[in-house]
Amino acid sequence: MDLQYRWMVFLYVLVVPCFTEDIYTKHMDNFINVVETIESENPSLGPLAVLRGLRKAAGINTPFIQHYLGPLGDKQSLVLKSTLTEYIYSILKHQVVQDLEKGVVLTADGTTVALTPLLLGLEAGLKPTSWPRVPGLYPLSLTKNLLLSFLQHSQTEPSTSSRLGPGGCWDNVTDPQVFTLSGVASLATDALINGGMDGVILGRHVAKPNKRLVTLSSLLRQYYNYQLDSAGLDGAPALISQLRRSNFRKLVSLASLKKQLARSLSLYRKLDEYQKKNKQEVEMDEGLKEFFHRYIDCPAIIPRCMWEAQPYRGTPTLLSLPLSFLYIHHTYEPSQPCLSFQQCSLDMRAMQRFHQDDRGWDDIGYSFVAGSDGYVYEGRGWHWQGAHTKGYNSKGFGVSFIGDYMSSIPSQRTMDLVRNQLAKCATEGGRLVSNFTIHGHRQLVSTSCPGDAFYSEIKGWEHFGEVKQ
Ligand SMILES: *[C@@H]1O[C@H](CO)[C@@H](O)[C@H](O)[C@H]1NC(C)=O
Ligand SMILES: *[C@@H]1O[C@H](CO)[C@@H](O)[C@H](O)[C@H]1NC(C)=O
Repeated sequence: MDLQYRWMVFLYVLVVPCFTEDIYTKHMDNFINVVETIESENPSLGPLAVLRGLRKAAGINTPFIQHYLGPLGDKQSLVLKSTLTEYIYSILKHQVVQDLEKGVVLTADGTTVALTPLLLGLEAGLKPTSWPRVPGLYPLSLTKNLLLSFLQHSQTEPSTSSRLGPGGCWDNVTDPQVFTLSGVASLATDALINGGMDGVILGRHVAKPNKRLVTLSSLLRQYYNYQLDSAGLDGAPALISQLRRSNFRKLVSLASLKKQLARSLSLYRKLDEYQKKNKQEVEMDEGLKEFFHRYIDCPAIIPRCMWEAQPYRGTPTLLSLPLSFLYIHHTYEPSQPCLSFQQCSLDMRAMQRFHQDDRGWDDIGYSFVAGSDGYVYEGRGWHWQGAHTKGYNSKGFGVSFIGDYMSSIPSQRTMDLVRNQLAKCATEGGRLVSNFTIHGHRQLVSTSCPGDAFYSEIKGWEHFGEVKQ
C-alpha cells in the first residue's frame, strides 16, 4: 500500500461510537443526531464526504445517479458498526413493501420525509458547479420519481393505480418505527415528494457561491427544528420545513418542471434503465397538473392519525359536493395560537374531547382547523358533514383558527393558508363552487365568533359576503 493510498483510507474511515437503543427510531431528530456524531468523530470529513459515505453505506447508486454525481470511489469506505450500518440502511433506503413505506422519517413539524431525495439534492448542490446551474438538482431530488410514477401510471389500469401519493400514518408519533401508507402506493409518495422538495430547496441553498456549509447536521437542524416564537411564521426565517410548499412554489413553474421531466426521460432512456419496448407516451401534462394541485396549490393537511384523533362516534353524513360556503371560526379556547406540531395536536385532541364528551357530538365539529405552525389540521375533512355552524352544516365547510381573536388577528401566513391556499385547493378540487361565499360564524348564529378583530379582517377578504335571505 503506497503512502498516498494509506492517507486516503485514513481520511474516509469513519469512527462510530456506541449508540443506545433509543436512537433507533425513525425520527429526523435521531437521524440528525447520528449525522452529528459521525461528524464529530470525523472532523476531517466535509459535508460532501459525509453525504457520500452515508449513501454508500445504504447502497444508493444507480447509473442515473452516477451520471450526475460520479462513481462512489472504492477508497471512500465507511467503516461502521454493523448496527449503525443497519440503521443507516433502514432509514435511507426507500422501499415500499406492501402497505409499509421504508426509508422515511417523521420530522418535528409533523410531516414525513424520504431521506434519499433530500440527501441527493444536497449532494448535487455541494458538488462544485457553475452557479446558478446545479446539474442533477431536480432530476435526483424530484423529477425522476415523478417521471417513474407517471410512466407506471400510464402503463396500468388508471382505476387501480394512482399517479401521486399517498401519505400515511406512523405507529407512534413520539416513538415512530413503522409508517403505513393510507392507500395504494404510487412511485411518488407524499414522503418522496416532501423529501424531493426539501432536496431542491436545500440543494439550491448550499450551491450558492457565498454559502459555506459548516456541517450537514447543523443545516438539517436549522431547517427541520426551527421553533417558532410569539412572532409566529411572519417573523420566521425563510428556510424552514414549515414553509416547504411556499418556498418550492417560488422556485418552479409548470413549464420549468415540464422541461426537467423531459430531460429526465431522455437521460433515463439513454442510460437504458427504461425498457425500450415500452413505447407508450407518458402523460406528463396531466401528471404535472395533478402535482401542482396536490402539492403546490393545496396546503399540507395534517391527517387525523397524526394528531392522534379518536375515532368518529356513530355514522357520518356524506356532504354533497361542491359546497357554496366557507364559514370562518375562531376556537376562543384554546385562546393562544399553537406554534408547533406538538402543541397544535394537543389542542386538536382537547377540542375533540370537549366536542365528543361535553357536547355529546360525534366528533370534533370543524371541517378543518388552522394552526399557527404552518399547517391545516384535518377535522371532519372534505367529505363528512361537520357540526360548526348550526343550521348550515350541510351547506359549507367550517374552518376554525386556533386562538382567541377578539382583539388581535392570526398571522398573515396563517390567514393566507386558509383564504388563499385551502380555498383554492377546494375550488380546483371540486369541493367548493368557484363563486363560493365566505361568512363569519356570527353572521348566521348568535355568537361573537370569530372574534371582533378577526371578523373585521375577513370583511375585507375576497369572497366575503353579506347573508342573503
Ligand atoms: C409511544 O411511545 C412512547 C415512548 O416509547 C410511549 O410512552 C407511548 O405510550 C407510546 N404511545 C402509544 C400510543 O403507543
Ligand atoms: C354562482 O354561479 C352559479 C352558476 O354560474 C349561479 O347559479 C349562482 O347564482 C352563483 N352564486 C353566487 C352566490 O353568485
